[in-house]
Amino acid sequence: MEFVLYEVKGQVGIITISREKALNALNSTVLGELDQTLDNVDLDTVRCLILTGAGEKSFVAGADIGEMSTLTKAEGEAFGKKGNDVFRKLETFPIPVIAAVNGFALGGGCEISMSCDIRICSENAVFGQPEVGLGITPGFGGTQRLARLVGPGMAKQMIYTARNIKADEALRIGLVNAVYPQEELMAAAEKMASGIAKNAPIAVRNCKKAINDGLEADMDQAIAIEEKLFGDCFETEDQKYGMAFFLDKNKDKVKEPFKNV
Ligand code: CAA
Repeated sequence: MEFVLYEVKGQVGIITISREKALNALNSTVLGELDQTLDNVDLDTVRCLILTGAGEKSFVAGADIGEMSTLTKAEGEAFGKKGNDVFRKLETFPIPVIAAVNGFALGGGCEISMSCDIRICSENAVFGQPEVGLGITPGFGGTQRLARLVGPGMAKQMIYTARNIKADEALRIGLVNAVYPQEELMAAAEKMASGIAKNAPIAVRNCKKAINDGLEADMDQAIAIEEKLFGDCFETEDQKYGMAFFLDKNKDKVKEPFKNV
C-alpha cells in the first residue's frame, strides 16, 4: 500500500498512516487503504490494534483539504460517507483499537482517534475540529463522537470556536487517557495492547460490544445487551480455564495463555 503500513508484533497489530509530506492527511486513497487494512487483519492471531501516524509531528492533520476544495454538495456528502464508513468499521471492529496520537490530530485526525476505543497521546499532540474555519462542519463523525466523549457543552465550544487544544487540556477534558513523552508513546501503547491481548479474547470482544452497543441503547435494553454477552462467555474454554485457575488452590501453578475459541 502507498500510505498505510501494517505490522504485527505478537498478538498486536500496528497500523501506521504514512503520508508524512501532507502530515498524514486523509485523502480517498488513504481511506481506501485503511479500509482494506482492516479487512485484512487476521483476527485469529491479532487481539488488539494500535493506530498511529508516521513521523513525530503529526498523527493525522485532517481530511485532505486539497481534495475537498472542489467537491460539489453531492460529492461532499459521498466523501463524508466514505470516511464515516471506515471510521465506523474501526469503531465496531471486533477487537480493541488504541489510538497512539503522536502529534496533530485535527479535523479528521481528531475524528479517527475518537473512533478508537482508547486514546493516548504524546506531549506535542494537538487536538481540534477546525472545520468551521474552512467553511464546513466536521464530517467524519466529529459532531457526534466529540459530544459523546467530552459532553455537549465542551464539544460545542471546541467545534464552534475551532480552537485547538494541547495534550494537557485533552487529558483534562477526558479526550485522552494519558500523555507521554513522544519517545515513550509507542512503547506505552504496545504495553497496553499486550496487556489487553493477554486477557480472554472472547470476553474482551464481548466487553467492547457491550459498551458500544449499550451506549446506543436505553438502560433497560443496555442491561439486556450485557446479560446476553455475559452469558455468551460461559462454556467457552477460556471461561472454564480462567475460573478453574482461580479456584485451584495450588499456589505454584502458572497461568497458561488464553486460547481463541
Ligand atoms: N490536507 C491537505 N494537506 C495538508 C493538510 C490537510 N488537512 N494538513 C497539512 N497539509 C499539508 C500542507 O498543505 C503542507 O503541504 P506543502 O508542504 O505541500 O505545502 C504540509 O502538509 C505541511 O503542512 P504545513 O506547512 O501547514 O505545516 P505547519 O507545521 O505550518 O502547520 C498544521 C501544521 C497546523 C497542522 C497545518 O498544516 C494545518 O492547519 N493543517 C490543516 C488542519 C485542518 O484544518 N484539518 C481539518 C481538515 S477538514 C476535515 O478534516 C473535515 C472532516 O471532518 C472530514
